[in-house]
Amino acid sequence: MATVRSRRTRVAVLISGRGSNMVALLEAARDPAYPAEIVLVVSNRPEAAGLARAAASGIPTRTIDHKAFADRAAFDAALDAALRGADVDLVCLAGFMRILTPDFVASWAGRMLNIHPSLLPLFKGTHTHRQALEAGVRLHGCTVHFVVPELDAGPIVAQAAIPVRQGDDPDSLADRVIVQERRLYPEVLALVAGGRARLEGDRVEIADAAPDGVLFSL
Ligand code: GAR
Repeated sequence: MATVRSRRTRVAVLISGRGSNMVALLEAARDPAYPAEIVLVVSNRPEAAGLARAAASGIPTRTIDHKAFADRAAFDAALDAALRGADVDLVCLAGFMRILTPDFVASWAGRMLNIHPSLLPLFKGTHTHRQALEAGVRLHGCTVHFVVPELDAGPIVAQAAIPVRQGDDPDSLADRVIVQERRLYPEVLALVAGGRARLEGDRVEIADAAPDGVLFSL
């Protein structure tokens, strides 16, 4: 049954570092017509540069330092409390470099997105640009997917691709992939928050065709 949206989707962005994807989401959400608003930015690292960038935009920030907790479950409980305290509908992981417990993931199932710097299911984990070069692929890119307990798995919403060029190294690939990440993530958040991309079992259905350039770019 269709629901009438009385408010924009309330989004928390979780970061661990620079936060350039977070900034892209904040900038998109500045438009009142954008279907999501960023209501909270959380970092597990106090030194994350993205915290200052969020605060400069007037967004509430929280540091939940994982080192202050006895185990993952205790950290995740604090994170969960912060998200619920801010009345968050949807969580966007944006360079959040911490594994979440299955219980936490289950309680946010279908309401948590991640961006990963590879064309999943290729090159999970870290050092994805080096992995791509070592594999000799000619296309590389980024993926936004719903989060499931297994790392860097979960239903894919959208991907953007770049060609791998002769002479590329991990840094040059990272420089071109991040440009696509900052373009793709706001588009995907709009699709999900606007109800146009929906989780159907372990696949994502996109209600109406988004422009090709949004979902795939060479
Ligand atoms: C991005 O490339 C993101 O895809 C990656 O960390 C970077 C964060 O950059 N995330 C992961 O590798 C998660 N597995 P940012 O802080 O500038 O957004």
